[in-house]
Amino acid sequence: MSKSVETAEGYKNKVIIVTGATRGIGYAIAKDLEKENIVISIGRKKHKEKTPGIFIRCDITNRKDVELTIQTIIKEFRKIDVLINCAGIMLYNDLIKATEEEFDRSFAVNVKGTFLMCREVLPHMRKQKEGYIINISSVRGITAAPNKGIYSATKYAVRALTETIFLENKGYNIKATSVCPGIIWTDSTKEKLKMEGLTKKDVLLEEDIVKTIKYLLSLSQKAHIREIVIGGRLHG
Ligand SMILES: NC(=O)c1ccc[n+]([C@@H]2O[C@H](COP(=O)([O-])OP(=O)(O)OC[C@H]3O[C@@H](n4cnc5c(N)ncnc54)[C@H](OP(=O)(O)O)[C@@H]3O)[C@@H](O)[C@H]2O)c1
Repeated sequence: MSKSVETAEGYKNKVIIVTGATRGIGYAIAKDLEKENIVISIGRKKHKEKTPGIFIRCDITNRKDVELTIQTIIKEFRKIDVLINCAGIMLYNDLIKATEEEFDRSFAVNVKGTFLMCREVLPHMRKQKEGYIINISSVRGITAAPNKGIYSATKYAVRALTETIFLENKGYNIKATSVCPGIIWTDSTKEKLKMEGLTKKDVLLEEDIVKTIKYLLSLSQKAHIREIVIGGRLHG
């Protein structure tokens, strides 16, 4: 294992895939990591003028898209050190009102998309005998809440996938962590949070998640945090 993986200040020149990197948390993570690494940002479309690192358009719910994306990355860079699965959708509704379409879309992106990305990347990490997969779950993946039953179910599932990845790949020096944040102030959430009377001071900020990811990446390959739960001051 290279020394750079083992030191916080030396986590550099790694090939890191970040899904959902066109906005929100994924964008913030990719933007920070691109300073010292080769970052591949994945999303369906660009939302900002400049997406961090190298942008690959990919719908993570589409098997062929995912296969082609990983093939392209391997052809170009020969390895994948880290996969950060951040793409997700947050559809909230009471179970009694929720539609099948909401259910199917939520599971397609949050669970199937995460599964497809992991399944495609893992054989390469196994060959390398090293790798790290970080899946963004949620505090709703730890406890359910009214109005968020389907979202919550997808995030419990993400934790199950993460745990399985670790257990099935122990012999290959592959780590997997679920990151479970409470509500975060992003472009997608801020209007709703303001309506609830909350301010930036009350909830997590994107930078809190970025720092958490960098902390995880700074640990040695044998120091394995399976799960990390981060709550804001008044929420989550
Ligand atoms: N925000 C929070 O308060 C919060 C709290 C806890 C956990 N989380 C989790 O953190 C993650 C990111 O949240 P966020 O607030 O940053 O979300 P966001 O701003 O809505 O961004 C979601 C990202 O996922 C991508 N995406 C969605 N469907 C996709 C698909 N089929 N294929 C490829 N990319 C897709 C989007 O790209 P396109 O628009 O191009 O599709 C976008 O880049 C999610 O998994 C969410 O569940 C968020």
